[in-house]
Amino acid sequence: MAKDKTIYTCCECGGTSPKWLGKCPHCGAWNTLEETLAQTASASRNRFQSWAQSAPVTPLAQIEANEVRRTPTGLEELDRVLGGGIVEGGVVLIGGDPGIGKSTLLLQALDALSRSLPTLYVTGEESGAQVALRARRLGLDASQVRVQAETQLEKILATLAAERPAIAVIDSIQTLYSEQLSSAPGSVAQVRECAAHLTRSAKASGTAIVLVGHVTKEGALAGPRVLEHMVDTVLYFEGDTHSSFRLVRAIKNRFGAVNEIGVFAMTERGLKGVANPSAIFLSTHGAPVPGSCVLVTLEGTRPLLVEVQALVDSSPIPSPRRLSVGLEQNRLAMLLAVMHRHAGIACFDQDVFVNAVGGVRISEPAADLAVMLAIHSSLRGKALPRGFLTFGEVGLAGEVRPAPRGQERLKEAAKLGFSVAIVPKANAPKKPIEGLTIHPVERVEQAIELVRTLT
Ligand code: TYD
Ligand code: MG
Repeated sequence: MAKDKTIYTCCECGGTSPKWLGKCPHCGAWNTLEETLAQTASASRNRFQSWAQSAPVTPLAQIEANEVRRTPTGLEELDRVLGGGIVEGGVVLIGGDPGIGKSTLLLQALDALSRSLPTLYVTGEESGAQVALRARRLGLDASQVRVQAETQLEKILATLAAERPAIAVIDSIQTLYSEQLSSAPGSVAQVRECAAHLTRSAKASGTAIVLVGHVTKEGALAGPRVLEHMVDTVLYFEGDTHSSFRLVRAIKNRFGAVNEIGVFAMTERGLKGVANPSAIFLSTHGAPVPGSCVLVTLEGTRPLLVEVQALVDSSPIPSPRRLSVGLEQNRLAMLLAVMHRHAGIACFDQDVFVNAVGGVRISEPAADLAVMLAIHSSLRGKALPRGFLTFGEVGLAGEVRPAPRGQERLKEAAKLGFSVAIVPKANAPKKPIEGLTIHPVERVEQAIELVRTLT
């Protein structure tokens, strides 16, 4: 009996196995299987039964498609990633490194919402006093946010039923535990069970719930990946520890667009929305400098703006150096050959150094055009225009090939305040993108010629 009551669940992919294995048979990760209770089968069967009883089958055309009711949080940048605001009964998972500002942001949002709606902040990580201290620091002295310091799921569910808040924040899901399970808080089984109960409660009562989740070293939300499937919206909090800027990015959103980003700055008094985020990227150079070119690359599914820098300098040695950091060395040699052959630009007696700023590694060929234009800019000693960006692969025949998901890249750039772009012809959008002047090119010589007229 005991045998079919426990299964082993992978904390990376959520896959299950009837016995313990060193390597997960689903995702291949090592040492990720944890013992969990095999109660999902009967639980989900019960769930299906109750759904079947309460929901009749209706032709799609007869179902009223009401626009979801959204409540703006009062933080414009957060609303942008949420798709306009918090949705009734919606469940949001917000992940990010420790200390990045998740609790701060949510407390600020709750305070703004508490002016018109009942709100609840459940803290499992800090005491009520610590939350109060933070609120004072944020200048929220007369805050009406109701706070509960609790980690037991059943008690939290009871509180939710009694208080009936419009929005509740659970900080964090990894600290919760259910009495039903014997495993420790933060384990796969606990996280999944707690999230499932809270999600059901949100759907039943119409309370919007925000779950705070921790991020592992690898950058994934800790706990099983199933958490991401269970919730309506997944937001990631990103930011460099060396800067005060924070990005909130929507990875999944059933009520809005993904890849939306909200930009914040961490100040002495909490997080402030940044209305003009391009300032972050332009502030590094007071004015555009020669040898610098911004490119939009795709980090997994996320577009990311990266500055490529090149330095071309006359070489003191007979065989000049070609050095690249964060970009492929062989591609650099190839690009220099293409530049010479097709655009007539020679660097035979020059050392060429290329660097992707910020320590990122770019492996996609869509960086080619940016590298080429950065080299060209350094060679001429002329900066590219302000707000300039590019992307595109360069072929040996001198053609500029399209990059995947060009629209998304351009939209991200426009969102971040970029204004001029040279892109492969096939990536030119059919509808104009607001604030962005786009120059489609088919060949490298065309791109070089365009840059000459732009600067
Ligand atoms: P916090 O919201 O506790 O992060 P998380 O919940 O994601 O772990 O953020 C804490 C950090 O933010 C901490 O390093 C101090 C900083 N901070 C400020 O700079 N200004 C502020 O007004 C507040 C409240 C925090
Ligand atoms: Mg916190």
